[in-house]
Formats: sequence, C-alpha cells, structure tokens
Amino acid sequence: MSKPIFVLNGPNLNLLGTREPAIYGTGTLADAEKAAQAKASAAGFAVDFRQTNHEGVLIDWVHEARESAAAVVINAAGLTHTSVALLDALKTLTIPAIEVHLSNPQSRETFRHHSFVSLGVAGSIAGFGIMSYELGVEAAAQLALRIAANNPRS
Ligand code: DQA
Repeated sequence: MSKPIFVLNGPNLNLLGTREPAIYGTGTLADAEKAAQAKASAAGFAVDFRQTNHEGVLIDWVHEARESAAAVVINAAGLTHTSVALLDALKTLTIPAIEVHLSNPQSRETFRHHSFVSLGVAGSIAGFGIMSYELGVEAAAQLALRIAANNPRS
C-alpha cells in the first residue's frame, strides 16, 4: 500500500465558500477535498487532507510528510507570502511538493506576488479555483509514480 498524498491547507481556508466568494468561489474546503480525493484515487493514491490556522502546525505536518507521505500539495494561504520557516521545512522534503492557490496571486496585490513556498516546491498551480487542487494532486501523483518507478522497492 503506497503512502498517501498530503494536501495541506493554511489559515482561513476553513472559511472557503463564505470567505470573499468573488475571489475564492462558493465551493467549500470539503468540496476541494472531494475533488482531490477523486483525482488521487484515479492515480492509485489516497489523500490525507488537512487545514490549520497555525503556522507551527503546518510546519509539523510538513515534517510528518517526510516519513509518511508520497507527495505534498500545499496551499499555505497567507503564509505563502510571509513564512521563511515554512519554506525551510519544505526544503527538507525529499518527496515531490506542489504549491496550489485558488486565486492567481500574480494578478492581485503586489504583496501577494512573492511566494516563499515557491522556492521549496517542484511547481505551482494558481488561478483555477478548486480545479487547482485537482491539477496539483495530479501533478504530485505523477511525480511520485515516476520516483517509485525508478525505485521499485520504495
Ligand atoms: C490563496 C492566495 C493567498 O494570497 C491568500 O492569502 C489566501 C488564499 C489562494 O488559494 O488563492 O489565503 O492561497
């Protein structure tokens, strides 16, 4: 049985659906989880989907992923633009990590243009609403499968 893909969500994403719907849409985090599960299971993976409003908890989950996940998909929300500590945690990973955002931060306020998270991941997907999670999970699964193919005993 392969390890799950961790899908980690940061601050305020628990309010998805009611939070600034003109920017983030009316879908909830439960909808994002369902969509992520469906894409992951099509590729043969389970998803471990989590949300926290606390930076340290998010960092602890990245540490946990080092041993327990096949890949990480992360929407660090506001911490994307502020957290060197989260970047440092992501840099310890030897499994693939993908950054996702519902909105496209590049087309928003300038303080959202810089992502610390981007410096610690294989790639970023932004601007597609809940579909960003589907695309992120697909990319993470494909990267994890390629690694497994090169290391048949892992
Ligand atoms: C977000 C974009 C961030 O700039 C913002 O702080 C969020 C959500 C997104 O998914 O579009 O909380 O990560």
